[in-house]
Amino acid sequence: MAKLLMGKEVSARIKAELKTEVDKLKEKGIVPGLAVIIVGEDPASQVYVRNKERACEECGIYSEKYALPEETTQEELLELINTLNNKTSISGILVQLPVPKHIDEKTIINAIAPNKDVDAFHPVNVGKIMVGNYDFMPCTPAGVMELIKESGVEVSGKECVVVGRSNIVGKPQAMLLLHQNGTVTICHSRTKNLAEKTKNADILVAAVGIPNFIKGDMIKEGAVVIDVGINRLENKKLCGDVEFETAEKVAGAITPVPGGVGPMTVAMLMKNTVKAAIINKSK
Ligand code: GUN
Repeated sequence: MAKLLMGKEVSARIKAELKTEVDKLKEKGIVPGLAVIIVGEDPASQVYVRNKERACEECGIYSEKYALPEETTQEELLELINTLNNKTSISGILVQLPVPKHIDEKTIINAIAPNKDVDAFHPVNVGKIMVGNYDFMPCTPAGVMELIKESGVEVSGKECVVVGRSNIVGKPQAMLLLHQNGTVTICHSRTKNLAEKTKNADILVAAVGIPNFIKGDMIKEGAVVIDVGINRLENKKLCGDVEFETAEKVAGAITPVPGGVGPMTVAMLMKNTVKAAIINKSK
């Protein structure tokens, strides 16, 4: 049986450590603050934003939530971001994605001051990740790295396969694994003989957004399997990109969905917000 990598428990530990750090910072007059912006009514996004607010409370981080209507214009959103860029009580700014279609995602990401970009989506921060000299780790990939650490498996020298090439997860994930000296392969929808590649992985990260896409027979015996997918099935149940029932019989360690990577993303966001407060001397 595979070891279960319980993100919920690891994230609780990280948040408790952050709370202690935040208390110390407050004594020095530094107060971390996170602004979360959500545009529209996407139900999944609303859940994610609520989780982020709750995590702020747990860590003693000040938070402001801006829930804007679907018909908010790009100019209005840019104006809010500009205000928050200049607000000393706000250390970090997060615009929940996706934004409505009439708003250009790239323009929004580019408008966030890089020193407040706690998602690490701004091209300046993406570039810093590429060269390995970064202030902010991208939240989901950073959470994945913590869970790999939890498995007890050393990344250095291992065959690491990332399935998915999104800007939010796949690409930065590959960089973080590379920084820890993994031998990294990125697979995607055009990859030929996918199972051949995944079966070679000592560490497999699935981030494709297709329910139960990776089956047990695509996994190497004893591999560390990290499932970034959160898919809602027709019966309303959540499931990952990995078929858990078949995968756990083969894997050495595996994340559950929910309760695996999800809570880690939020914990890493809190970590970035504390870092931003120190950089920006927020008060
Ligand atoms: N939507 C899905 N994942 C994320 C994330 O990590 N950050 C933001 N801002 N939006 C998201």
